[in-house]
Amino acid sequence: MIVNSILETIGRTPMLHIPLRGGEVGLYVKLEMFNPTGSMKDRMALSMIDSVPITLNEAAVRIVESSSGNTASALAMISAVRGLEFTTLMDSHASLDKILTVRAFGSNVRVVGSGDGDLATDERDREARRIAVEEGAYWTEQHNNPANAAGYIGLATELLDDLGPTMTHFVSAIGTGGSLCGTARQLRLHIPGVQVIGVEPVGSVIFGGQGGRYRQSGTGTPQGANVGVVIDYDVIDWGRKVSDDKAFSICHYLARRHGLLVGGSTGGAIYEALSVAREAPVGSRIVTLACDSGTKYLDTIFNQDWLSSNDIQIIDIEAQFAELFANAAVPQPLNEESGYGAACALNNA
Ligand SMILES: Cc1ncc(COP(=O)(O)O)c(C=O)c1O
Repeated sequence: MIVNSILETIGRTPMLHIPLRGGEVGLYVKLEMFNPTGSMKDRMALSMIDSVPITLNEAAVRIVESSSGNTASALAMISAVRGLEFTTLMDSHASLDKILTVRAFGSNVRVVGSGDGDLATDERDREARRIAVEEGAYWTEQHNNPANAAGYIGLATELLDDLGPTMTHFVSAIGTGGSLCGTARQLRLHIPGVQVIGVEPVGSVIFGGQGGRYRQSGTGTPQGANVGVVIDYDVIDWGRKVSDDKAFSICHYLARRHGLLVGGSTGGAIYEALSVAREAPVGSRIVTLACDSGTKYLDTIFNQDWLSSNDIQIIDIEAQFAELFANAAVPQPLNEESGYGAACALNNA
């Protein structure tokens, strides 16, 4: 594929099929790390920049956003292409990799927080608001920006093209809620009965409960931080919590058994997807998003010293879900009968 801008490579990501229960149930992992900055956030960042009011677009625009790293990387890439000035507020303990990525695109990083390892989401947002008001920047405000969720309409269309109405479950991580709710709202238009399950870390408070420290990056909302309007509880059937131990154990399992490097939020979502697969009716197709790549976490999730110093235990996923992996079937390509043709018919309707 020859493109005239790196932005044309956003989307149309591949999907990995992992058969479970001898092929009775299919897990489908949409590989969003194939986007240019290695996460699904390229989709929403482009949507948010495209929605900047036209009058602002004509002036020399300065964008500001608070981010755990992936949104910042995506906005920095797009700002480079569009000639915008971009400043991001990131946590003091954000991975060096993510900070350096933003700087590599020519954007500015301001580090916020105490450095004790806790998320400084609220503080980051306050500083973004201050920069917007006092320094005249445009705050994309991802937690309250409808263009965040709208950025995933294309993702839902790709899922419908690939799997059509045969999807039974959509299980994914939730932070701002843009990817889960934006995708789910669109899927629901075509598959009203699809079960939507949002997954947050234990310690995050989107679905209530006790706040506490967690290490899954980008996902969840810590106690005290604002749960924005992008989270649409009406399109979510179930909210689940997954511990760091379980989420990171999935990352290790996927790397070692499937050659797939994913980040911790994806680990959490896939842990929950496997739990759903245990009880799901024969023929279920469970879709989940690989939000970003494990290459962003080689010095944390995949570093035994870091795991030990954070008291994280890697558990044996194959033993825990033994009944899912018994009689592993050879993945079968989709054909007309299994859904692909039906999806095309649906999209052409
Ligand atoms: C790695 C990762 N996973 C999950 C999420 C949560 O996605 P959303 O904000 O669309 O809910 C984010 C958001 O920053 C992220 O970076």
